[in-house]
Amino acid sequence: MFDEDKRLWAIADTVGTPFYVFDAAIIREQYFKLKTAFPSVDFFYSLKANPNLSIVRELVTAGMGCEVCSFLEFETAAAAGVGSDRMLFVGPAKSDRELERCVVAGIKAIVVESLTELERVDRLARDLDRVQNIALRLNPDFHFPGARLSMSGRATQFGIDIAAIDEVLARSCQHGNTRIAGIHVYMGTRILEPTTIANNTRQILMLASEVAAKLGYRLDFVDIGGGFGVPYHEGEEALDLDALRYELEPIISSYEAEYPRTKVCIELGRYMVASAGRFVAGIRQTKVTKGENFAICDGGSNVHSAAAGQGSLLRKNFPISLVKGNDRAPAAGQWTITGPLCTPMDILGKDVLLDRPEAGDLICIHQSGAYGATASPVNFLGFGQPAEVMVDGETITLVRERASIANLLNEQRPRSISGASRSREIKTSCNSSSTSVFQHPCLERLDDLKDLLIATGHKLERDTEAWRDLWADPIMRAFTLVGVPERYNGFSLGDTSLGIEDCGYSLHIAMIERLARFDASCILALQGPSLAGGAILKMGTEAQIEQFFSRYRTGSQGTFFAVTEPEAGSDPSLGISAVSATTGTPRLTARKMLVGNAQRAAIGLVFAKAAETNRPILVLIEPDRHASNVKIEHLQTFGLCGAMLCSITIDELPIDDNMILGGGNPSLRDGFLAINEVFERNRPIVAALALGTARGILDHLRATSKVAAHAIADLELTHAALLRRLEIVLAAYETGRPKAHEISLIKLQAVQFADRVIQRAFSLPSSAEFMMDPTLRKKTRDAKAFEYMEGASNIHAQNAFRSYVARMPQ
Ligand SMILES: Cc1ncc(COP(=O)(O)O)c(C=O)c1O
Repeated sequence: MFDEDKRLWAIADTVGTPFYVFDAAIIREQYFKLKTAFPSVDFFYSLKANPNLSIVRELVTAGMGCEVCSFLEFETAAAAGVGSDRMLFVGPAKSDRELERCVVAGIKAIVVESLTELERVDRLARDLDRVQNIALRLNPDFHFPGARLSMSGRATQFGIDIAAIDEVLARSCQHGNTRIAGIHVYMGTRILEPTTIANNTRQILMLASEVAAKLGYRLDFVDIGGGFGVPYHEGEEALDLDALRYELEPIISSYEAEYPRTKVCIELGRYMVASAGRFVAGIRQTKVTKGENFAICDGGSNVHSAAAGQGSLLRKNFPISLVKGNDRAPAAGQWTITGPLCTPMDILGKDVLLDRPEAGDLICIHQSGAYGATASPVNFLGFGQPAEVMVDGETITLVRERASIANLLNEQRPRSISGASRSREIKTSCNSSSTSVFQHPCLERLDDLKDLLIATGHKLERDTEAWRDLWADPIMRAFTLVGVPERYNGFSLGDTSLGIEDCGYSLHIAMIERLARFDASCILALQGPSLAGGAILKMGTEAQIEQFFSRYRTGSQGTFFAVTEPEAGSDPSLGISAVSATTGTPRLTARKMLVGNAQRAAIGLVFAKAAETNRPILVLIEPDRHASNVKIEHLQTFGLCGAMLCSITIDELPIDDNMILGGGNPSLRDGFLAINEVFERNRPIVAALALGTARGILDHLRATSKVAAHAIADLELTHAALLRRLEIVLAAYETGRPKAHEISLIKLQAVQFADRVIQRAFSLPSSAEFMMDPTLRKKTRDAKAFEYMEGASNIHAQNAFRSYVARMPQ
């Protein structure tokens, strides 16, 4: 057996069939050949050809920019590390959300496809106080012979008719928040003849000169599209790069000589990746029927629609080979290769000369790296997305998991949307099933974040900015913004691989418990809306809600809720922070301490009293804007470093009504009941953090020690019992009948449980080893800090007792 066949079998045995396999070295090589041929050209990778993150990363690392067409493609490119100034956003139906993301990131250019779109971008940029570069996508009058699918020069939904260019340029002058930086023409795809590309380029560059003359200033770039093809079918020849260089280079050089500051850009998808990919399916059975040989595979047009000829007038075979599962005598014949679907159109190859395939062999379709699974109807008949694998020399990596049945079913869980309104409430649970929320399938998917959280937890002990590593992960990003109303939330859970659209109260707490198993400190380091967000939603004016939440459309934002005063303990009513109007203008003077990194926070709430009336007030503060009156210091911490401790000193800060939560509305006092509710709803978080940390210690002991397994079994049972108890408390919150003493009790029990787990760990025979283990030592330090969050536990003990007595019948 050839080495390559052995490798395919090893992959098939590990990930199952069907799958795609991509070769990183071929992808890199393809880019380097291009860049060597055209060193002055700026190349952009069109993610539509293959949006696999690892492929995009390979090309971005090699030096390519990215051409993206959707939110997911944008996020993929960003996750692959491309800079905003190397990103183009193209497409005829962009959403506001996509445009807003582009404007805030300040990408190289949004390629606008109409005057209306130009005006939309301008309006959006004005609202965001930005100037955004755009490129005009033009639909010229000339034709592009030689493209197998042409997209310009005829009536299509793309671009601006060249006849309308004068009007567009005239109108664009009235729009100060967009700047025309380039033009874009996409000729068509699958071009294999150098002369066609050269002729098309010449025409586009002439058009660019005309537009620049009309504009009256130089363009930053001209994107001439691309559409370079690869040979798929018998009789097709690969694009000859030397010949292309010979014909195209002089055209580009003479344009560059005339316009030295305008870059020529080429965007390519297929050409970058097609030859680097193979599609591999398993043969399920063979049969001879009515004189024709059939090999029936477990993947067909559902996962490789291009090989099945969908989108082409005539179906022609891709290059196909057989990988035999055993040694047998050769017997060549003509075979029809089919997929598993219930349609006779599901044909991957017709009359293919093969050496008698058998069930259990593999069929390999070459030239399949572009427009494969993501351009196919993968859910037809429920087979789902196949696995994707990357090979790089000896290294083999799974780079996309096969679709899971659980995910596919989970997406279809009925959730009522009747009566859906733009509620200002944080949504309550969407968990309607009777199984425990602590067993929700999405929690298992969080396990993939284990390494990230453990590594970041350690980093946070030295580097307060390490939270950015968490923000770089799409799931952690969406998790950070749980509680941000939908209209402000640019990073919703629905856009992640978790398989949930959003998360209700109980599931959010279950996620916190699960992530705390890896590192609780990370959760507290996230830059989200925190407790203050809940209070703003309960009591803020529309303008305050906008002020607080609008940044979450496009990024993170640290916040704080400053209640506790060092001299007054945890009881805010004993504090001395006050707003006084003795000098005319009301002024706030306050001194607070809090858990949280207020130093990094952009906005937060400070609890005070009106000096004259003793009325409670919450003041909305943006520390950067009030820097001369607000001083924030960072206090030393030893456990839960991601959370941090800070002190805030505010000296005579002038206050206006817009800064007072609710705008100084007299009914504010009633609102304090609502604030209490916000506090109450957040108490279970401390219990979840403590339980998660304790469980993390147990899991760590199990994984690293042989003795520990039986010695900690009782603690694992206690953990399960406490989760059950927490769940009952959460359910009471969800139905609006929370019992304050029960949440105080569960917090107390959770913190004590974490203590018991630590004591047990250090009483085990291998305790000396444990003490040397940095992860265990860190978890132990973190666990100790919960005692002091949300009031010390003895306050909770009192609280539990007080509420319990209050509810007793007399
Ligand atoms: C605007 C645009 N850019 C780039 C591409 C990528 O084309 P190719 O994969 O042929 O390079 C396409 C394909 O449809 C496109 O429409």
